[in-house]
Amino acid sequence: MQASKRVLNMPTYVFAAVDEIKFALIKEGVDVIDFGIGNPDQRPPKFMLDALHRAIDDEKHQNHRYSQFMGIIELRKAVADWYKRRFNVTLDPETEILPLVGSKEGLLCLYLAYLDKGETALIPSPCYPAHIGAARVAEADIQEMGLLEENKFLPDLDAIAPDVARRAKFLLFNYPNNPTGAEETREFYEKALEFGIKHNTLLISDIAYSELSMEPDYRPMSFLELPDAKKYAVEFYSCSKSYNMPGWRVGFLVGNSEVIANTLKIKTAKDFSIFLAVQRAIADILNMGEDFARPNAELYRKRRDRLVQHFRAIGWDVPKPKAGMYIWTRIPKRFSDSMTFVKELAKRTGVIVSPGSGFGGYGEGFVRMALVVDEDRVEEAAKRIADSGILG
Ligand SMILES: Cc1ncc(COP(=O)(O)O)c(C=O)c1O
Repeated sequence: MQASKRVLNMPTYVFAAVDEIKFALIKEGVDVIDFGIGNPDQRPPKFMLDALHRAIDDEKHQNHRYSQFMGIIELRKAVADWYKRRFNVTLDPETEILPLVGSKEGLLCLYLAYLDKGETALIPSPCYPAHIGAARVAEADIQEMGLLEENKFLPDLDAIAPDVARRAKFLLFNYPNNPTGAEETREFYEKALEFGIKHNTLLISDIAYSELSMEPDYRPMSFLELPDAKKYAVEFYSCSKSYNMPGWRVGFLVGNSEVIANTLKIKTAKDFSIFLAVQRAIADILNMGEDFARPNAELYRKRRDRLVQHFRAIGWDVPKPKAGMYIWTRIPKRFSDSMTFVKELAKRTGVIVSPGSGFGGYGEGFVRMALVVDEDRVEEAAKRIADSGILG
């Protein structure tokens, strides 16, 4: 049986390739130190688990039936209140908030709602691999906007060729950025909004890491804070990283109501929204109204500092990002490509990192480390790397 061209043309998802390397080593009995995937290693706080237990046992609500497609209004209201408190952004819970079974699935629905085969999408590179992966599924014309170190990993919108700008259906950006750790600037956001208005291009912001600032002087903003942004933009938010619950599968698409309605149309062909007990638990949690991601951000700050300290001490000049949960760093010069380095590093040290090439064309020459490893294991990783001589 012949699979579709869509499938045949799709490269292996980068993390599947990294997993393959990891599990082969585990099978050999190697003690692996895994910085590969941004999969939080901590549990959600107890009061969140309690909220989920309560919702599962709740006999008053029918939490084990199918949900309405758009998710329950209590959850959408809780998200609206959270956006108001956190960003001072007003959202209509009836039309401007769509709960998602994780923002990853929402990305694909939005792409399918806005891209016909061969249509152009402006996507940053490097990027969260699903940002490009979803465009491959949609068989779009992917135009990668290089995020360069000298531009603080912000896209240069003036460098986009006029014909590409004219035909682009949407422009996506993600700050705090995965994988580079870069921050947004208000100037960039204003330029992006100008671009959207000038070219009639949908703007897509992804703030999956907005609650994970590791520095007191940086509080990430929502793109929707810009006046009138909602006319041109939607934004993804995810509970996965903030609250250590990637397995709960909770994200939101908020903003422009027409885009929400069109994305929902695709979603109705695909799923019945999030498990109702999870929806009620998240509504409860958001309504408690505290900065619950703070201890998490503090943990990542400690790990980042430890990693930077030990890796720099062994001669690997890694940067110190202000937010997110990743270190994005260059591979030693003598390696021709990031995958070769990742394989060699894994073989010699048992340390797993992700190859930059899996994050888009502009990711080559880099690797990404997720801060999901305990502090003492970070020190052990640095020791193994130094002993292996791989840095040259
Ligand atoms: C930038 C970005 N957006 C979205 C996601 C997906 O999150 P979710 O668990 O909500 O699907 C990730 C996950 O790594 C991410 O890095």
